[in-house]
Amino acid sequence: MDEYLLARGLHIVSAIVLFGTGLGTAYQLFAACRSGDVPGIARVARQVVQADWLFTTPAAVVQPVTGLWLVRLSGYGFTEPWLVMSYLLYGLAGIAWLVVVTLQVDMERVAALAARSSTPLPEVFARHFRLWLRLGWVGFVSLAGVIALMVAKPALW
Ligand code: HEM
Repeated sequence: MDEYLLARGLHIVSAIVLFGTGLGTAYQLFAACRSGDVPGIARVARQVVQADWLFTTPAAVVQPVTGLWLVRLSGYGFTEPWLVMSYLLYGLAGIAWLVVVTLQVDMERVAALAARSSTPLPEVFARHFRLWLRLGWVGFVSLAGVIALMVAKPALW
């Protein structure tokens, strides 16, 4: 099998998993939180945390690895402007995602506790949700920026 095609195929499939799982699970948790159904929120939050371990985490590793492999195979310089900007945006998306993951784990814990004791969600859950939403947008806009750079490969400077 052609090494370049293998690297590029893995890179694009991983990008689909990274962006698609992120979007899908974010919508599921957003919709659950808007429902106010505490046991439902706890269940969806648990599934979102699982999806992050099963899909997003491996894809988040495969993406830069296949990306750097592609740089080597396709003869681009590692410091091409569109690549440097991609590294920076991917780093920003990564930092936002790491905080989002810790928020999701805590949101699941708080919701499960409230569901078990049949009590309303505490204020800390609403605070987590607001920060989770804002960081979610940072992550998505950054990744969308990377995809645009990957496709257009513009001469930025
Ligand atoms: C952060 C490290 C990354 C590096 C070093 C990297 C490197 C590359 C390289 C060198 C190519 C061009 C391959 C070619 O045309 O021969 C490419 C294509 C591509 N990359 Fe990345 N990439 C990275 C991250 C990402 C991320 C985070 C995404 C999306 C979530 C992504 C999505 C794509 C897509 C869709 C293409 C195909 C573009 C096209 O064929 O028009 N990449 N990448």
